Amino acid sequence: MTTITRTPVLALEGISKRFGAVQALTEVDLEVHAGEVVALVGDNGAGKSTLIKVIAGVGPPDSGEIRWEGSAVAIPSPGAAQALGIATVYQDLALCDNLDVVGNLFLGRELGHFGVLDEVAMEKRSRDLLHTLSIRIPSVRIPVASLSGGQRQTVAISRSLLGKPKIVMLDEPTAALGVEQTAQVLDLVERLRSQGLGVILISHNMVDVKAVADRVAVLRLGRNNGVFDAKRTTQEEIISAITGATDNAVSRRRARTDQLKDGADD
Ligand SMILES: Nc1ncnc2c1ncn2[C@@H]1O[C@H](COP(=O)(O)OP(=O)(O)OP(=O)(O)O)[C@@H](O)[C@H]1O
Ligand SMILES: [Mg+2]
Repeated sequence: MTTITRTPVLALEGISKRFGAVQALTEVDLEVHAGEVVALVGDNGAGKSTLIKVIAGVGPPDSGEIRWEGSAVAIPSPGAAQALGIATVYQDLALCDNLDVVGNLFLGRELGHFGVLDEVAMEKRSRDLLHTLSIRIPSVRIPVASLSGGQRQTVAISRSLLGKPKIVMLDEPTAALGVEQTAQVLDLVERLRSQGLGVILISHNMVDVKAVADRVAVLRLGRNNGVFDAKRTTQEEIISAITGATDNAVSRRRARTDQLKDGADD
């Protein structure tokens, strides 16, 4: 695959983070290339959100390296993440129910001149944005309260794209959705990929993961437990890596190299 030789947009190496007595992440590696969807999976408490927060600049790591397009960077704040080109859509969508779609898309970054809001420009950009993403919403002038869960999620994702990010992180974007609405959101994820974005998708749903992910990165007890090619791996294999139920090839190999290392240390 060509992705192996390209420089990843984002590369994490040996990321560790501790909260008091809890070692939330230990030496975690993760790579995301342009135009790929990486699913980040793992049991409750595996460290997924902690890792997302490291990347989003919300909770910097204790140690490890972050590289952006090949260069080492620090992401000490959410602003720094945004400036690099990292957008995050958190699970609680933080949309304002009483505002319309335009109002939500531009909340906090309204367009205007001399303190006068340029509603026409914002409405046009909203329509263009939704059109580029093939998002069908009856009108950009209806309050988001009257949209379906899936439509709301697509508005939240669109909002994150206004800053023209290169990486978008989605935390459980389909968790609260029905079948039809989930399909809408997964379609959007595929369009983001085809527009060249790198997507990190946290999900507990293996069907969703198999449907859209190119690679699946498994965290278990705060450590990497394999990165799988989504198309060539069964749901059962991924679940085994999540639960640690069976020795998969990756963990067997790691156990072997760890043994060798231990032997060399003696
Ligand atoms: N702010 C914090 N203070 C103390 N411990 C924390 C904090 N945030 C996370 N942890 C701990 O770090 C570990 C990893 O938590 P994290 O939230 O990253 O897991 P997760 O994979 O996102 O789980 P879930 O699927 O339940 O969302 C857990 O043991 C958790 O209790
Ligand atoms: Mg979490």
